[in-house]
Amino acid sequence: MQIFIFDTPEAASRAAGEYVNAEIRKNPKLVLGLATGSTPLGLYKEMAEACKAGLDYSQVRSFNLDEYYGLQPDHPQSYRRFMNENLFDHLNIDKANTRVPDGTAADPAAFCAEYEAAMKAAGGVDIQVLGIGSDGHIGFNEPGSSLVSRTRVVALTPQTISDNARFFEKADDVPRKAISMGVGTIMEAKTCLMLCFGANKATAVQGMIEGGITQFNPASILQMHPDTRVYLDEAAASKLTLKDYYKWAGSCGL
Ligand code: F6R
Repeated sequence: MQIFIFDTPEAASRAAGEYVNAEIRKNPKLVLGLATGSTPLGLYKEMAEACKAGLDYSQVRSFNLDEYYGLQPDHPQSYRRFMNENLFDHLNIDKANTRVPDGTAADPAAFCAEYEAAMKAAGGVDIQVLGIGSDGHIGFNEPGSSLVSRTRVVALTPQTISDNARFFEKADDVPRKAISMGVGTIMEAKTCLMLCFGANKATAVQGMIEGGITQFNPASILQMHPDTRVYLDEAAASKLTLKDYYKWAGSCGL
């Protein structure tokens, strides 16, 4: 794991954006794994600005981590709609090459197998963008998820439902299930790019980086990933025992 600590989420998002955009310059056919939520919005702004300034996204392909099960793609809270509004509509990407799990699939098991096969056929995910839940979840892989799980239907925890209720009129409107890439699926990305901002993430971040590897903090498996880059703001980094060392290593260019 490489840990990068910044004063603000804006500075962290800028650095993450520089990394992603540079990789797209090197490989215009890059395959991105994408996340929703509030955390990657700054990164997506950096990508949109680079595209406006001339970076070509027309051959980039993408696979999103997850989607609520039971929401139509045009539902205001669907992750398809979120991705269109917050990223795809601002890039010259071909929307046909952007995949978000189908929350309306009549046969979700068959859909999940096809989604995994499509990722493989694309050559695998090159860079997987991730955020962390306050309980350590990645994608919708809640604590207790198998660390080798694949794309499947999952049940959201009451904690995640209450965290996400702010986006719906009331907590009762939050779907109880989702389709999510599994932890094992995420681990196959060549690079994982994890962004974590805010004090409410500090405990989960400490467990992810410095705790034991456990399905009670699914993000902790990233310690076993050969190329994970973690971008933190000061608040999210505030509980790290070795925070000063990570900063020092960063100042040494590592
Ligand atoms: C969403 C996803 C989730 C979020 C996590 C953090 O696609 O994969 O794991 O990354 O819930 O959400 P925010 O960024 O809203 O704090």
